[in-house]
Order: sequence, then structure tokens, then C-alpha cells
Amino acid sequence: MKNFKLLFLVLMSLSALDQSLVGANFYKSTVCNWGPQNTAIWGNGFNLALKLDNISGSGIQTKKQFLFGSIELLIKLVPGNSAGTVTAYYMSATGEKHDETDFEFLGNVSGQPYIIHTNVYTQGVGNREQQFYPWFDPTADFHNYTIHWNPTHIVWFVDGLPIRVFRNYESIGIAYPNKQAMRAYSSIWNADNWATRGGLVKIDWNSAPFVARYKTLKLRACKWAGPSSINKCAANTAANWWTSPLYGRLNFAQMGQMAWVKNNYMIYDYCKDTKRFKGLMPPECLLPQY
Ligand SMILES: *[C@@H]1O[C@H](CO)[C@@H](O)[C@H](O)[C@H]1NC(C)=O
Ligand SMILES: *[C@@H]1O[C@H](CO)[C@@H](O)[C@H](O)[C@H]1NC(C)=O
Ligand SMILES: *[C@@H]1O[C@H](CO)[C@@H](O)[C@H](O)[C@H]1NC(C)=O
Repeated sequence: MKNFKLLFLVLMSLSALDQSLVGANFYKSTVCNWGPQNTAIWGNGFNLALKLDNISGSGIQTKKQFLFGSIELLIKLVPGNSAGTVTAYYMSATGEKHDETDFEFLGNVSGQPYIIHTNVYTQGVGNREQQFYPWFDPTADFHNYTIHWNPTHIVWFVDGLPIRVFRNYESIGIAYPNKQAMRAYSSIWNADNWATRGGLVKIDWNSAPFVARYKTLKLRACKWAGPSSINKCAANTAANWWTSPLYGRLNFAQMGQMAWVKNNYMIYDYCKDTKRFKGLMPPECLLPQY
């Protein structure tokens, strides 16, 4: 009887341990790469805060590298006067010819809107910015920022709404990020030379420290295990759920959602910036962006 009780207690505590491991994302899956004194992880690894003060910003990166899948993170951005700060959340490979997919959140003075800035680099070349105002206050609560990435397209989701798609047009000579391993990163830094109203508004250090909060990191992605992953992660198998036709193209409802976001909240689109590209628009701009 006594042994039975003991066994029961052991089983109970094991399952409690299991529960905590489910949420142990930031301890288990990330390392700090900048400003360790300004990073905090608590709640069994479930919660993360990154701080920018007048000494340093801070940042983390995933331990593992990935090729295709979904990277999901809930973020509550710096409240109040966040002008001049940028909270970045992105996937990136390394090196000169790297691929990268970005979310960057450009702060603002109290009461003025953040900008959700997006970009994608292939083979080291970016210049594909699109910017949006959020349709909610991103500092009042956590919101879901997800990057979905597979052999046919990359989709940026905000609270489940697709705001942007970058399609694979490799067959007509546009590089696509499908051969390089990427890590997910997040950081907060001083970008007051460009972020808010193009650099006009500087950081007010009296409002420091600036803190971005995070929870629920989910890395449902193909782990990179060397060059063999290029084919393995792209293979159309049941285990590679991201290759399912279901995820190969937005459905009609999602196309409608993206059109709603673009019509109402998009404030910059590189594909419309004829001045910048002097009429020689990037080739994907002449093709469907969904
Ligand atoms: C940085 O901030 C701290 C805390 O607000 C303050 O005491 C210190 O004087 C500041 N240092 C500089 C160089 O501005
Ligand atoms: C976040 O958004 C992604 C993409 O829409 C979705 O798959 C996921 O379930 C969402 N997560 C939460 C916690 O809402
Ligand atoms: C900050 O607010 C100003 C004024 O409303 C706006 O023009 C700007 O786009 C906002 N965002 C940033 C990051 O500059």
C-alpha cells in the first residue's frame, strides 16, 4: 500500500515535470547571443523578456537550424514611448549570400502607431520591404506572429491573418530560400537613425528601459542535419506536413483576409515604388503575390 502511494506520487511528479517541459521553450530551444544582462526567462521557460537600455540591447537565437515549417511566437511590444526602438523577429541563414525572412516592429511615441516592417532576402539580396500598420494595439497584449515557409511559398501571419506571401518563382530565375538552414532570432535594439518617421524621432532615454515580452515559441519545422536536408525537408511526405497541398497556396478565405489587410493597413510596398527602382521593378512584382 505504501509502495503504491509512493509510485503514485512519483508518477504525479513525473507528469508535472512533463507539463513544465511542454512550456520550456526558451530555455530548451534558444540561447542568448547579445546582452545577457538584458534578457530574462521565467515561468519554466515559457516567458521571455528582452530589454534595451542605455547600455545595451539584447537578443536570442534558436539553438537548432531549420529548413521549412512554421515558426510561431507571441509578442507584446514595448508599451508607451517606444520611438526609435526596433524589435526584430526573423529567420536567417548566415554568410554573404544568406537567406532571411523578417518581421521588424518599429516603435513610436505614445499613442502613435507601430509599423510592422517585413522583408525577404534571397542569396544575400533583400530590398523587398512591405510595411503595415497593425489593426490593433500591439503593446496592450500578446499577438501571434508566425512565419510559414515551405517549398512553394513563405507566408507572414499576424493573428492568423496572412499579411504577405513570397512565392517560389525559381523556375523563372528568381532565387528562393530553399537550400540554406536558418535559425530564428529575436532582438531589441536602438534604430533611431531610421526607424521612427524615417529617423526624425530619437529614442527618449528617460523612457528606458524598453522591454518586449514573449511567450509560446513554437518551432514546428524541419531540423537541419546537413546538406541532405535540402531534399529531405522538401520531400512530399506525410511527416513533412508543410509540403501538403493544403499549405501550398492560400485558400480563398485567406486571400480575402490578405486583401483586407493590404487595402486597409499596408503603408509601403516595394513593388509600387517605381521611383526607387527607376521603372525596373523586381521581377516578382510583375507576378501574382499570393
Ligand atoms: C543610463 O541609465 C541609468 C539608469 O536610468 C542612469 O543612471 C545613467 O546615468 C545612464 N547613463 C548614461 C550614460 O546616460
Ligand atoms: C498562430 O498563428 C498560426 C498561423 O495562423 C496558427 O497556426 C497558430 O495556431 C496560432 N497560434 C496561436 C497560439 O494562436
Ligand atoms: C509614428 O507616428 C507617425 C505619426 O502618426 C507616423 O507617421 C509613423 O508612420 C508612425 N510610425 C513610425 C514607426 O514612424
